[in-house]
Amino acid sequence: VRLGECGHFDLTTYYSAFCRPGMVDLSRSNGEPAPLAPSFERVPWSAVRPPGGAPRLRATVAAHCYKSLGPEDILLCSGASEALVAIALALAGDGRPIVALPGTYPSFTGTLRTLRARRCRSFAECSAPTCALATNPAVPSGHRLDTAEFISRSLAAGSIPIVDEVHRHIVLDRGSVPDAAADLDPAAVSIGDLSKPLGLSGLRVGWLATRNRPVRERIERALQLITGGPSVLADIAALAAFDEFDEHLHEQQARAQRNAPLVYEELRRAGWRFSRPQLGLTFAAIPPIPLQRGALGRARSAGFFLLPCSVLDVAGSGHALRISVLAEPAALHAALELLITDPAGAERVKPSSIGAKLSPIGRMRAI
Ligand SMILES: Cc1ncc(COP(=O)(O)O)c(C=O)c1O
Repeated sequence: VRLGECGHFDLTTYYSAFCRPGMVDLSRSNGEPAPLAPSFERVPWSAVRPPGGAPRLRATVAAHCYKSLGPEDILLCSGASEALVAIALALAGDGRPIVALPGTYPSFTGTLRTLRARRCRSFAECSAPTCALATNPAVPSGHRLDTAEFISRSLAAGSIPIVDEVHRHIVLDRGSVPDAAADLDPAAVSIGDLSKPLGLSGLRVGWLATRNRPVRERIERALQLITGGPSVLADIAALAAFDEFDEHLHEQQARAQRNAPLVYEELRRAGWRFSRPQLGLTFAAIPPIPLQRGALGRARSAGFFLLPCSVLDVAGSGHALRISVLAEPAALHAALELLITDPAGAERVKPSSIGAKLSPIGRMRAI
């Protein structure tokens, strides 16, 4: 795949096509899994999922992740991916357009496409959207979203504000954890999961949170039609994870804050340009010279997976790659060397010549 020719890939299809077991994923957006030893002695095997999900887990999510929400405001689902699909299914059917800001996760945009709903990338592009979705932090920059401002723009446009906040708890800039959209406004919907704050992607536990009852009821109906939410096994494991939520989160954050400067240093030494992320686990970095055809394939052959930002639903991301603040520095170093080796393998681009060949940032910008 040539960079700039990724138009038919989105994030999930690119991972499926090119990330193989055993590869070092230098673009990973999930944390290290928290150690977990749940007891499965009393699994309610025959339990039918109650609407909204297991009551104890709903109460635990509300207590740990939100300031003004109760158990009834939480709907449990099978990862944040299912929350995004359910929201699209529930809200996209009335013929009105939907705003999904650039960088929206493909579970939402892909479902909109399947439903043939009209998707706009900004409020300016359409009038009276049903709902508007933003991601906090923004993708791919990792910069903080002004959630209050997004909510007020969305409400002014007559739409339901929705914020994908799966990385909200991982703070890299030493500021505070941003407020959840659902805490800031009773009409807003927040999306969260355990894949990012605790690295428990395999658990498939996510949720959406809102005090907006009519919207919640529509989404709950859609959830019942998809998987019906997490399994009873996942419910129990998630409760065990929440027992030590703060400790695990602290470790995750400390790991990210410790490793990030090492990652920045590797990139800087190799002449890459970037703006530091404020939240989450990933950011965008621009190579010193345009990457040549086959560069990412060469890195993959050596066992290093890297994601081009062009598959992240962001126009004008050029040759930028998504880099994880958890990337192992030695592996990143080796991958960066491979990326700027010329395809014949003859001549490495010398650091001294990099400055002269610096490509313009182009339209790559903080969103
Ligand atoms: C911004 C964002 N939203 C949603 C998801 C989906 O998360 P989950 O693993 O909980 O389905 C991801 C996964 O990487 C993500 O990065």
